Amino acid sequence: MRLDPADPAFSHDPYPYYARLREQGSAARVELANGTHAWLVTGYEPGRAVLADPRFSNVPPQRAGRPKPNSPARRARACLARHMLNTDAPDHTRLRRLTTAAFAPRRVDALRPRIDRLATGLIAGLADRLSAGETVDLVDAFAFPLPILVISEVLGVPEADRADLREWTYRVGSPADALPKGAVDEAWVRLHAYVSLLIVEKRRTPGEDLFSVLIDDSAEDALDDGELLAMAFLLLFAGYETTMNLLASASLLLLTHPGELTAAQRHPDTHWAAVVEETLRYDSPLEGATWRRATRTVHLGGGAVIPAGDSVLVVLAAANRDPQHFPQPDEFRPSRYLAATDAQRPAPHVAFGHGPHFCVGSRLARLEATTALPLLFDALPDLRLAADPTQLPYRPGLLVRGPRTLPVSISR
Ligand code: HEM
Repeated sequence: MRLDPADPAFSHDPYPYYARLREQGSAARVELANGTHAWLVTGYEPGRAVLADPRFSNVPPQRAGRPKPNSPARRARACLARHMLNTDAPDHTRLRRLTTAAFAPRRVDALRPRIDRLATGLIAGLADRLSAGETVDLVDAFAFPLPILVISEVLGVPEADRADLREWTYRVGSPADALPKGAVDEAWVRLHAYVSLLIVEKRRTPGEDLFSVLIDDSAEDALDDGELLAMAFLLLFAGYETTMNLLASASLLLLTHPGELTAAQRHPDTHWAAVVEETLRYDSPLEGATWRRATRTVHLGGGAVIPAGDSVLVVLAAANRDPQHFPQPDEFRPSRYLAATDAQRPAPHVAFGHGPHFCVGSRLARLEATTALPLLFDALPDLRLAADPTQLPYRPGLLVRGPRTLPVSISR
């Protein structure tokens, strides 16, 4: 089957296409718009099997003719290539082990008051604009800045520098042709220089932040500076667009399902967590896991045979709509996560992945969403969507998924 990830209709609602692929078996070979082929895994069981199978490698293939990183911007980008999501065991095991202390539940949970403060500040700015009669983009004013501000706390970025970090991250995440010439390259260079300096400073005067814990070189097998830089970039990028999509999709779902919003506000202790889980399942912020490559021929079951060297994409968003594991998968129903007994509870969703690369930041992402969403909707009870939900643009591609803009206003 042919697939054009840039087709706006597909980006807006890829689920019918994925459902058709799932019916074809464990894996389907699709032709992408650029003429190349890839295997897409859209079922829950085969998806989890691939993510946990060491015969699939996360190391990107060496591309012949790839230009040497000879400009400062290219060198900065090349640093990213050394991060743990691009490695297999045993390198991966070592890099990942070093994050355990920094992302220990106790440390992450301690961020709650600070997340509360950051979200409250953004919401106050939003409220001012809304009460002046403006229509405001909730992505730009809330869902985008919050994860960047939070990861700045995690990395221990001083408050005075956060606006810069936000601007550079925004630029390097944008397509080069969407900004003035050179703007993306310049942002890469400045981001690289800034994070390098931050590492030096944190080594000299460690703080209470999670990044200082990561930098602590008394640990055996401590990270070298290049690895630390790659880790900082990974935390910055793995955490911001994904969490932004979670916040944006959850806000959109609540604005279009007022009954669910009322239920969450009536039973805050249980329902907000259920809203977040169901958003992760129903509108998974990371549409596909990172590409994997078969290191040998793999029989996936159901007749699907992936030849050695072929690329495989586990489509998390599709696995989370597999009807064999989630009854009425195309309904947004947070109550499925409120079931009283194990037998009634749905399978764990795979929005944070599965196996050795399972998301390091899942607890932080959940904490951000369960802290910020109630604050937003309690502060702005008259918040309304100021656009037709069926016409909202979604980012093209197979990697991340969420509304690009979310115009809101308040009813008067
Ligand atoms: C809603 C928000 C998020 C979602 C949906 C998400 C999802 C994921 C998924 C699916 C993976 C595995 C990818 C794969 O196997 O190819 C992953 C890995 C990772 N995530 Fe997240 N993530 C989120 C937020 C965060 C945050 C806030 C951080 C850090 C602050 C973070 C850090 C990481 C890291 C470091 C990895 C790599 C783990 C490894 O390679 O072992 N993520 N994430």
